[in-house]
This record gives sequence, C-alpha cells and structure tokens, in this order.
Amino acid sequence: MAIFGKDEKKSVQPDTACLPRHVAIIMDGNGRWAQKRGMPRTFGHRAGVEALRAIIRHTDDLGIEALTIYAFSAENWRRSAEEVGALMKLLLEYFTKEIDELNEKNVRIRILGDIDGMPKGLEKQQAALHAAVERTHTNTGLNLNIALNYGGQQEIVRAAQNLAKRVKAGELEPEAIDKAAFESELYTAGLPDVDFLIRTSGEMRLSNFLLYQLAYAEFYQTDTLWPDFDEHAYDEALAAYGRRNRRFGGV
Ligand code: IPE
Ligand code: IPE
Ligand code: MG
Repeated sequence: MAIFGKDEKKSVQPDTACLPRHVAIIMDGNGRWAQKRGMPRTFGHRAGVEALRAIIRHTDDLGIEALTIYAFSAENWRRSAEEVGALMKLLLEYFTKEIDELNEKNVRIRILGDIDGMPKGLEKQQAALHAAVERTHTNTGLNLNIALNYGGQQEIVRAAQNLAKRVKAGELEPEAIDKAAFESELYTAGLPDVDFLIRTSGEMRLSNFLLYQLAYAEFYQTDTLWPDFDEHAYDEALAAYGRRNRRFGGV
C-alpha cells in the first residue's frame, strides 16, 4: 500500500554537518529520457535544463561551496549538427534568462573548458559566457562551474603547456613545479578538489571529466535519467555521501 501520495515523495534529509564542499555532476541521460517518450533527443535536453535549474537552487540553499556540472564535453561535437545546434541554442537561452537571478544570489560563475576554441558561428554564446564570468567574478556565494567544450585530458595538457611557457619566460624554475603550481593552471584554480561525483543514467565512466580534481572524490551513480533527477534524488545522493567513510589512504 502506498503511504505517500502521488506527488509526495519520501524525502531523505542529508546531514548538513556532512555535506561535501564541492559536488560535480555528469548530467547524463537526456537523449534516452526523450526517446522513451517517443520524442527527439533535443526534447530531453530542454527537460534537462529544467532539472539543472532546480539542482542549482537546491545546492545554493544547502550552502554547498562549489558545484561543477558537465554541460558539453570536448567530444560532444561528434553529435549531429542538429543536436549540437539545439544544445548551443539552449545554452544561450539559459544564460540570457538566468544570469540576473544567479548574480542576485551572489553566485560566481566559472566556465571550465575552451570557450575561445568553440567552432565559428557561436560568437553569441562565447560573448554570453565571457559576460557571465566577468559579471559574477567578485561574487562570494556558490561557485558554479560549467564545464563546456571541456576535456579532462585537454585541461591537464593545457596546464603543462602554461607551466612550460612560464619556465621558458624565466618566471618559474622547473623544480618549483609542485602540486600547488600545477593546480594553479587548472580551470578550477583556487577551488577545493571534488568531494562528491554524481553520474545519472547508469553509466559507469568518467567520460573525460575532471580527471585531476576527482582524485579522492566519492562516486555515486544512479539509474535515474538526468531530467528526472530532482531535489529528492539529490538529497538521497547527499545522504549517501554523508554515510561514506573517506580514508584518503589512511585507516
Ligand atoms: C547528457 O545527456 C547531456 C549532454 C551530453 C549534453 P545525453 O545527451 O548524453 O543523453 P543520453 O546519454 O544519450 O541518453
Ligand atoms: C558526458 O556524457 C558529457 C556530458 C554529460 C556533458 P556523454 O553522454 O557525452 O558521455 P559518453 O559518450 O556516454 O561517455
Ligand atoms: Mg550520454
């Protein structure tokens, strides 16, 4: 017998004393969500944006320090022109609509990835991304990182290149390249490492996401497809995080 009404889900409250400082999410399953409904993949992406809005709000309400979301990988250009075009349109729409509210909420936006390396024809998107970063860079609330045209391997190679340039310019001794120097060249410079990685849709891979920053992240996967991942599912994931025993190599 159902104890809870149709729209009422049993809510699991995460222990606010054991919340992660930095959550990363691989928002996966939009295409399958749409296909299950006999709709085109782009319908799923639109629903995915709605889910994202709610998750960002909830992250902010919980007082979590940083949220990194995987919006578009460096490998996602392999999709059809139609799907890529729809995703880029949604991106622009998202930034145009949300930026005022995010700024009001004191959210600081960073883009992880090669914005300037995006293909021609996306100048409006590039301008909106740069503007969002610029407009929010002094904000002190939630750090919202959007990984876009992002690849973890590419990020590491870029950091190595930047360090090599500094050595060549005589600004840095090779011996001075330590963990801190390396991290200062990552897109996430200044942010804590990821504590908690969530991937929706049942896939069990990293898909080139935050390869460096995930070193000691706790991994959580759920079969829920991204458009269905709501606050309750998020609370459940965060509660699971609170029960983990992180050892960092110790006992
Ligand atoms: C994730 O959903 C969103 C992006 C990659 C932009 P997918 O589009 O990968 O959906 P599936 O995995 O094909 O269902
Ligand atoms: C990872 O999902 C990228 C994003 C969520 C933006 P994909 O759907 O692209 O990953 P693969 O191709 O299944 O590994
Ligand atoms: Mg996918």
